[in-house]
Amino acid sequence: MKIAIIYKIVTGNTKLLAEEIQKNLNNEVIYIGAPQEDIDADLYFIGSWTFKGECVKEIADYLKTIHNKKIAYFGTCGFGGSISYYETIFKRVESNIDESNELLGYFICQGKMPLTVKQKYIEMIKANPEDKNLQVSIKNFDEALNHPDESDLRELKKWLESIIQ
Ligand SMILES: Cc1cc2nc3c(=O)[nH]c(=O)nc-3n(C[C@H](O)[C@H](O)[C@H](O)COP(=O)(O)O)c2cc1C
Repeated sequence: MKIAIIYKIVTGNTKLLAEEIQKNLNNEVIYIGAPQEDIDADLYFIGSWTFKGECVKEIADYLKTIHNKKIAYFGTCGFGGSISYYETIFKRVESNIDESNELLGYFICQGKMPLTVKQKYIEMIKANPEDKNLQVSIKNFDEALNHPDESDLRELKKWLESIIQ
């Protein structure tokens, strides 16, 4: 089986997942990198960082070009710890995949965010120290700092084993 791993990143978290997928499926990977035309694979691992609660437009557009193939989605997002949030992200991603494809599933985990995000929260909370949403956002930022971690990569590996027989 020919496998392509196609992804977009802004900092590097999703690249860690892409490389872990490559490491585990090495012999069959014919391409790993940014979206590109003329990649002919049987199975496409498509990955993205999360922007405005979904994959980035370049990945959404690329998904629309794939027909009659197997597709598995992977990604990272800043807000973690909630399966239902991951599901919401994936539902939006899924809307770009047409029914001729066989969808094998998705893997999403938390990924650290740039320090500028926390700096913005800190500025905002100075003006509004009681703001509960901001307090949660700062806590979440700190929790995200270690991700993807070893445990995320182990879960990713388990997911791979479950979809590749
Ligand atoms: C401009 C910007 C917007 C973001 N928007 C979201 C978002 O809507 N939801 C979310 O969960 N994470 C959001 N994040 C966090 C990133 O998706 C997260 O840090 C991700 O792991 C980055 O992946 P990468 O390192 O592969 O680029 C945002 C980050 C940035 C920089």
